[in-house]
Amino acid sequence: AKITLSVIKADIGGFVGHSSVHPRLLERAKECMSKTELLEDYHVTHVGDDINLVMTHRHGTDYEPVHKLAWETFLSCTEVAKELKLYGAGQDLLSDAFSGNVKGMGPGVAEMEFEERKSEPVITFMADKTEPGAWNLPLYKIFADPFNTIGLVIDPKMHAGFRFEVHDLKENKRVFFDAPEELYDLLIFIGAPGRYCIKSIYSKTTGDIAAVSTTQKLNMLAGRYVGKDDPVCIVRCQSGLPAVGEALEPFANPHLVSGWMRGSHSGPLMPVSQKQSNPTRFDGPPRVIGLGFQIANGKLIGPQDFFADPSYDLAREKANKLANYLRSLGPFEPHRLHLDEMEYTTMPQVQEKLRDRFVSLEDDEAAVAKEE
Ligand code: 13P
Ligand code: MG
Ligand code: MG
Ligand code: MG
Ligand code: MG
Repeated sequence: AKITLSVIKADIGGFVGHSSVHPRLLERAKECMSKTELLEDYHVTHVGDDINLVMTHRHGTDYEPVHKLAWETFLSCTEVAKELKLYGAGQDLLSDAFSGNVKGMGPGVAEMEFEERKSEPVITFMADKTEPGAWNLPLYKIFADPFNTIGLVIDPKMHAGFRFEVHDLKENKRVFFDAPEELYDLLIFIGAPGRYCIKSIYSKTTGDIAAVSTTQKLNMLAGRYVGKDDPVCIVRCQSGLPAVGEALEPFANPHLVSGWMRGSHSGPLMPVSQKQSNPTRFDGPPRVIGLGFQIANGKLIGPQDFFADPSYDLAREKANKLANYLRSLGPFEPHRLHLDEMEYTTMPQVQEKLRDRFVSLEDDEAAVAKEE
């Protein structure tokens, strides 16, 4: 029988500010999860101010009752968040009424259905203070870069490579690329992670699903793009798929991602233990946790908190150094994001206020020409 692994996440109130989740919200979420017969198993956790519901069940992806369970769990947690006046209580629940699927309603969703193998190791990567495109670089390295993943070279079941499904979040389109054959075509798109995101990855040898992310289309609000949000990515490992250590390896070299303070800055993605996932400095730097599970007859055996390992100490140190440098740039790009990528901006108001003070240089030139 096939198993479905669903991770559904939302920020429904920060403790304190945007740094973490209050323990009472996690308790409430566990209570909600424990009452249902729908699931084979579940694990409730958080990264920063985002609650993550990791669930296994037998009902396939986009199964309405599972989405409804997650939605109602977040609603119930919101009651607690309101009582404690947590910051942004209910912030990611963008709609008032559930209508069959949490997609597009605020929460992030990553789901995959597969035949449980003889041994089924999976990693759930979860990040705070960044956007889904943050997974592009590590997923590229894991599934297409032989300098990261030696399995691509020496494992006969990986040697054919992987198929990448990429979404254009602006146009709301999808496209497939085969790696390694189409690496350069793939890279021209996924190198622009604010717009093109890797949604899922399949083994070319077996056709099996190997990875899926919470990539969602961007929403337009007040003339700017919003909806880049604290993403999740699931990676299946071993036996023809990347080894666990190959899947963890890209995070040893923190890459720069968009997010951080007010969703409007570039900063290093720092790999941390679950307990250290409380972004603090300038509401950051952005964090990623990696929780491993062995799935056994639908049960989640784990988690193993991978980035608690001291072999990631140097990555954290490097991330801190990069963070320090970027902070020194203050309100200047490239620390501050490019205009159309910022979640917040005063530009329209300031432009409006100063409209009369902007004088056309062409008018100036014309005036000078007239004098002469
Ligand atoms: P979150 O998306 O994690 O709530 O962060 C928002 C923010 O503005 C941090 O400064
Ligand atoms: Mg928040
Ligand atoms: Mg968050
Ligand atoms: Mg968020
Ligand atoms: Mg945000």
